Amino acid sequence: MSTNGLELERTLPTSWYRSPDIFQIEKERIFCREWLGVCREDELPQPGDHKVLDVLGESILVVRNRDGRLRAFYNVCRHRGSRLCRTAEAGVPGRVALAGGVTGGRLIVCPYHQWSYDLNGALVAAPHLGAGTGFDKDGYHLYPVGMESWGGFIFLHLTPAESRPLAAQLGGIPERLQRYPLAGLGIGATIEYQVHANWKIICENYNECYHCAGVHPELCAVVPAFREAGGGNLDWVRGVPHREGAYTFTQSGTTTRRAFAGLNADEQVRHKGELVYPNVFLSVACDHVAAFILRPRSFERTDITCHFLFAPDEIARVSFDPSDTVEFWDLVNRQDWTVCEAVQEGISSRVHAHGYFAPMEDWNLDIRQYVTTRIGDHVPR
Ligand SMILES: [Fe+2]
Repeated sequence: MSTNGLELERTLPTSWYRSPDIFQIEKERIFCREWLGVCREDELPQPGDHKVLDVLGESILVVRNRDGRLRAFYNVCRHRGSRLCRTAEAGVPGRVALAGGVTGGRLIVCPYHQWSYDLNGALVAAPHLGAGTGFDKDGYHLYPVGMESWGGFIFLHLTPAESRPLAAQLGGIPERLQRYPLAGLGIGATIEYQVHANWKIICENYNECYHCAGVHPELCAVVPAFREAGGGNLDWVRGVPHREGAYTFTQSGTTTRRAFAGLNADEQVRHKGELVYPNVFLSVACDHVAAFILRPRSFERTDITCHFLFAPDEIARVSFDPSDTVEFWDLVNRQDWTVCEAVQEGISSRVHAHGYFAPMEDWNLDIRQYVTTRIGDHVPR
């Protein structure tokens, strides 16, 4: 489209946001070939703790082993393929509870034939296949999942044999956030959202503030810079300034919580944000971090966990009350998810083959390139 010579960049084809087939290609080429943020390390504080996660439809078991190290496996027995840890009994008519799963904080026991694995995934016992039978247990390790952490976040890699180091994927983000004590922060509150929109629509919305003036009036009252020039001149590296006297994302722009120790002068009064491709958003204030973990469910559905992270000594205070920031964020989040769902609905029209990015939305060219370079060769033409 040409308007006074200004050529707008095109979005990805609309079909890429609407197709179950494209979503399956994205699962294999993006989500199973990159590190995915899934949860916080302190959600599994003790040896023997475990979590069962649904990652792109794959059931993944994360455990903390006896040495305190985190490990992750596909939640599938090497014998006949049964689920090891079952979470689906509740509410399913006709199902009965079965013994098994992570037992005694030491073993992962299959409920079917009681093959038992240690918390490093090694098969340690299989009934009636002991010494003298010639059965070699070493050949039946649980299917591994890559596990690394950064900033207190657990990242998984579903194709660990092909993984690069997490640090290579994170690029300059750890350095840009180096003064924030991310790894030591605790979860002060969590909100779960189900958003009826493609994951790329949600990323694209996070990547621009052209929409802020119209969609987020309360946020713009605290951060007027978000409505200036369509959000096109924001300095995310130095941090985005609040209005005079404000320094955090709350209705008042202030809070009783102390700033994190060690921040520089800008970071004590400005806001930073990072998109950790492909599925984690970090929004960083002087006293809290809003961390969004996207869980794409289908081409038109994305579940989002929003953790609010605070310094442990703030959480421990008797007077700790995160509602000033949680309620403010919940409003902004629901405004964002609503417009994302409006896009998903709108692009279902038969006339919409692709959209456009205005110049203020240039960051979204990164998403277009990110997706195109990973799946472009695999999309049928
Ligand atoms: Fe927004």
